[in-house]
Amino acid sequence: MKAKLHMKPIFLIGFMGSGKSYWGKIWAAKNGYSFYDLDTQIEESFKMTVEEIFEKKGEDEFRKKERFFLRKFQNKKNYLVSCGGGTPCFFNNINFMQSQGEVIYLKASPQYILDRVMDETLKRPLLKEVNQSELLFFIQKKLKEREPIYLKAHHVLEVTQLTEDSLAFLQKPLSSEKLKEADATPENSSAGIYKKPAKQKS
Ligand code: S3P
Repeated sequence: MKAKLHMKPIFLIGFMGSGKSYWGKIWAAKNGYSFYDLDTQIEESFKMTVEEIFEKKGEDEFRKKERFFLRKFQNKKNYLVSCGGGTPCFFNNINFMQSQGEVIYLKASPQYILDRVMDETLKRPLLKEVNQSELLFFIQKKLKEREPIYLKAHHVLEVTQLTEDSLAFLQKPLSSEKLKEADATPENSSAGIYKKPAKQKS
């Protein structure tokens, strides 16, 4: 059996519609992780959909549960969690995730996100009240607000270049070619992956 070299927990973060749950399931199965969807955990605990929780309990209650369940994974092993789009942006959750494992940001453009969410805005509490004609503007604004937090992730993967092997870089040392790639920025990275440079000591 192939030894697993890297089994730190993985947290997928990114805006709604960026494919966190879709890819999370595939990558977990492929790499031997248990898959968890944070929204699903919260829905099961309330026995309500996310939309109902926002409506009946309010966003604050939802965010508290989100924090609670995120920290509950600590007792588990070899897990991959698909987080909600807002998870890293509340209660220092991003710092918590960073301290526990590998945080991976699935980076998507506003247009990519729009194409994926526009037919399901009613299921999404944050988008429910937004007029269709203002949806792109809303996504751009929210993404701009959240991206500095998303970019605290250890790794950034461009969503248009994802494949079922996208997490392979965690299993083995990066090749010299990939290392060069890892120094790239999202703008010039041809492989759609880059690792943020370590912080310079001042
Ligand atoms: C939210 C994103 C949703 C869900 C809730 C709030 C957000 O998750 O947690 O509707 O604040 O962006 P997905 O990103 O999985 O859709």
